[in-house]
This record gives sequence, C-alpha cells and structure tokens, in this order.
Amino acid sequence: MIVRSRSPVNAEPPASALAEDDITATNAFYCRNHGPIPDIAAKRWRLRVDGAVARPLELTYHELTTRFPAHDVVATLACAGNRRAELLKVRPIPGKDPWAQGAISTAAWRGARLADILRAAGVTPADGLHVAFDAPDVAQEACPVQTYGSSIPLGKALSGDVLLAWQMNGEPLPRLHGGPVRVVVPGFIGARSVKWVIGITVQPCESRNYFQAVDYRLLPADPDPGEAGIALSSLALSCGILVPDDGATVPAGPLSVRGYAIADDSRRVARVEVSVDGGASWRPAALRPGRSRWAWRPWTCTVAAQPGPLRVVARAWDDTGATHPESPAALWNPGGYANNSWPRVDVTVR
Ligand code: MTE
Repeated sequence: MIVRSRSPVNAEPPASALAEDDITATNAFYCRNHGPIPDIAAKRWRLRVDGAVARPLELTYHELTTRFPAHDVVATLACAGNRRAELLKVRPIPGKDPWAQGAISTAAWRGARLADILRAAGVTPADGLHVAFDAPDVAQEACPVQTYGSSIPLGKALSGDVLLAWQMNGEPLPRLHGGPVRVVVPGFIGARSVKWVIGITVQPCESRNYFQAVDYRLLPADPDPGEAGIALSSLALSCGILVPDDGATVPAGPLSVRGYAIADDSRRVARVEVSVDGGASWRPAALRPGRSRWAWRPWTCTVAAQPGPLRVVARAWDDTGATHPESPAALWNPGGYANNSWPRVDVTVR
C-alpha cells in the first residue's frame, strides 16, 4: 500500500494490485479515514433509527444480522479525492492528500438492505427527505471538531442496493473498513458510505455534519466568500489505466493496456477507447461485464508500441453517449474532487 498518512490511516494500493482481480483483495482495498479507527465489539454495537419514522428502532448486531434478509452486492467504492495528484499539478490544494489513482476498489459486500430497516421503522417516502448517518470517530480536521457523518436522499436509501454491511469479501467486515457495520452506498462517492454507523435519522434536510455541509462539496475554481458549493453524491463517469504502470519500460510491439471504467449512479458504461497519439485516433477496448451493476467494468486493449516515449490515454462513454473531459486543468477545484479527466500513462518503449 502507498501510505498517504499514518494518523489518521490513509492508504491506497498501487495500480498493479488493483489490476490483479475484478474484486480487490481486502488487504489491498484503499482506506480513507478522517479520525482514529473506533474499536466496537459486535456485541456492544447498537444502531439507533429515528427522525421522521413511525417506529424508532434500536437494533443490536444480532437483530440486524438475523431479523432482516441478507443481501449481497458487489460494488466499487471510490473516494471523491481519487486522482487529486493530477489536479495538484495544475494548482496547489493545501492540506489535502495527494491521492494517485488507487483511492478506488471493489468488494463483495453482504448486509441488510437499508430500505428494509427504514420500512421496519415505518418510514413514509416523501420528496425532499434525507437519511443522515452518524458515526463515532472524531475528526480533528473538522471545524468545529466533530464525529463523522453524512447523508443521502431518501429515494436513494430506499433503492434496494444500499446496505448496512457486516461482511466484506466473505469475511466479517474489518475494523479498518467500518466493522462491525458500515453503510455501503453503491454509485455514490465513498464519503457517503459511512463506516462504524451507529445512528440513522430520516430528516427534511441534508446532514449538517461537516463532511456533508462543508467538505466533499464541489466549489468553483475561485469561489466567492460564503459559496456553499455542490454536495457531491453520484460518482462521475470515469475510467482508469491499471497496466502498464506509469513510468514503466515496455518492449516494442503489441502492448496490452488494461483498466476499468465506471458510470454515474444512473447510467452504464457503454464503450472505452484507447489512444497512443494524444487523442487523434482511438482504438476500441474490449469491455467485460462488471460483476454487478455497481461494479467497475474491466477492459483490455492492445496497441502498437514503437520504440521511444509513449503516452497512453483512455476515455469512456456511457449509454447516453456522454463522455468525460480530456484535461484536469478544466476540472481544478479547491477541494481537489471529482477528477474524471482522461487517465494517462507514460511509458518508455525499448
Ligand atoms: N466513515 C467514517 N465513519 N469515517 C470516515 O472517515 N471516510 C469516508 C467513508 N466513510 C469515513 C467514513 C470516505 S471519505 C471514504 S472514501 C470511504 O469511507 C472509504 O472507505 P474505506 O476506508 O473502507 O475504503
């Protein structure tokens, strides 16, 4: 793992580790923390469900894992700050980790559907409601210092694949990734998948937690004072190159390029293309189906590598015909979020 900070623990796998399998090994899955990792034994864990519900609940781990049907979802989690390092080359972003391209990973999650728990609590679906999640880890970087929290619209919470997960890749959810129980919100930025969740509130507004109301928002490049920005929710259409490694030396001849593509919350990846001439011409990549509707789609493409320096770039298209921007310069923002510009890898061909 490439460690971005030790306290709190933040680390990302190298691209080669992500390329090994469609499902990321648990010990290679990126970890993103804003505070110290809580130590909550499953038998001590409690979940409170309250707010705009007819029957507020308090659930134990045993009740969560036995009263509600277990549901399996393979989902890719991606941090909104993934590939911030490329934005940092455009303009500095003080105080933010320089994630390369590894703040994204895919796991098989098992848990209860959040929709089932909200229904057991007697929620009445209505426009404009949000579901806020509370966790016990304290973030010193928040202003004022506070525990971690976030929210998603009620419509997303009831959509069926949002989980209160207790298993990751067939094992009890590790502490580092939110054990004993975390939220998994497929299709949304990782920040909404709240780890060590202990409270769920149905409410008429977004969470007022720092990580919803202040951080993880897309500000204009030069914001006016008081500018609130846009709360990030759905992932953006994007792709990544995992093989070859940036900076690698490769033999002349056919070069196999491998990567992944993800679409936004409501769309599907429909095409990936690779260029070795700066985007003047493109070769279609062979796309494999994702392990689920919420998992990245792996792709491969063989290009001709002539001796000398070679830059490989890629781009994805979704099923509405939309694609993503060429340059990180067009995307720079003060938080360094949502960089979905064309991925590029520079190699030397010998
Ligand atoms: N939940 C809590 N309680 N505390 C956190 O710091 N980080 C969030 C989210 N959930 C966070 C959290 C962010 S920013 C991301 S990208 C994902 O967890 C990362 O999950 P992972 O560490 O399992 O990869």
